[in-house]
Amino acid sequence: MHLPVLLDETISNLAVNPTGTYVDCTVGGGGHLQKLLQMLKPEARVLALDKDLDTLGKTRNKFNNEPRVDFIHEDFRYLARVLAELNVNKVDGILLDLGVSSYQLDSQDRGFSFHDDARLDMRMNRANKLSAWDVVNTYSETELVQILYKYGEEKYAPFIASKIVKMRQDRPIDTTLELVELIKAAVPPSYRRAKHPARKTFQALRIEVNDELGAVEEVLPQTVNLLNEGGRLCVITFHSLEDRIVKRFMQREARTCVCPPGLPVCTCNHQARLEILTRKPIQPSVTECQHNPRARSAKLRVARRI
Ligand SMILES: C[S@@+](CC[C@H](N)C(=O)[O-])C[C@H]1O[C@@H](n2cnc3c(N)ncnc32)[C@H](O)[C@@H]1O
Repeated sequence: MHLPVLLDETISNLAVNPTGTYVDCTVGGGGHLQKLLQMLKPEARVLALDKDLDTLGKTRNKFNNEPRVDFIHEDFRYLARVLAELNVNKVDGILLDLGVSSYQLDSQDRGFSFHDDARLDMRMNRANKLSAWDVVNTYSETELVQILYKYGEEKYAPFIASKIVKMRQDRPIDTTLELVELIKAAVPPSYRRAKHPARKTFQALRIEVNDELGAVEEVLPQTVNLLNEGGRLCVITFHSLEDRIVKRFMQREARTCVCPPGLPVCTCNHQARLEILTRKPIQPSVTECQHNPRARSAKLRVARRI
């Protein structure tokens, strides 16, 4: 079961118009959606996207008789196109709850978890070509090191990458547990006793396979054009790079001038389009983290369309 993170904080910021139209870009198991619907009147509408067809199917069944929701199997990087196809011009709130769901981690055949043996996959959208198998078995050693450093902050990246390249010379690395064993052999024993030694590598592979940062970069500029005046953009991140992208985007959109420093007069004609409502990101309470360890790294940023 997926426990929604920062549930009350997110929905109280998002649901500003009880009869409005909303987009849940990452509906997952529908935890946030359920709470949002409780705040909305019968004439409201919610478009619920997920690029994972299995997840979407399960959640659609769960909300079977809910006439206010349209479930859409699509990557949120195409948000503007999706809304245009549905003849929706403007919405009152957009939610992005980034990353992976517990449902995906617990699906043993998807290859997201370093606890279960499965083919190396990790694709949220199974129609995508690139899987974790391709990354592990075809990327160069340099590329592997870069990914592990950048997306996993894995300090033993060079050791793990070198081991991967050595092992795959004999035969491909096919499964999650083969990779876990290889990582255990590549890192020092002390690292093996701390948190799970494969945690950071698996996170890095998942982010690469699903181009998670690229999708966020692409969707954010679209959201501003789609929001009604007063509409809210709520983004929950779980990774420092993701959070930096969201923070910088909101800061830029909240400024009236984005000229390089030192110019005598403004030449950019930039207009502020967002007001930031969370000067510092909202983070989960100690109690929430105790109940839901996945919440520990969560940060919620909220902005209002002006
Ligand atoms: C953290 S979960 C969302 C959980 C949800 N808020 C809930 O309360 O159950 C993230 C979901 O977003 C989906 N997702 C991730 N990246 C996506 C993208 N680019 N487009 C559409 N869905 C995406 C994942 O498949 C996953 O189901």
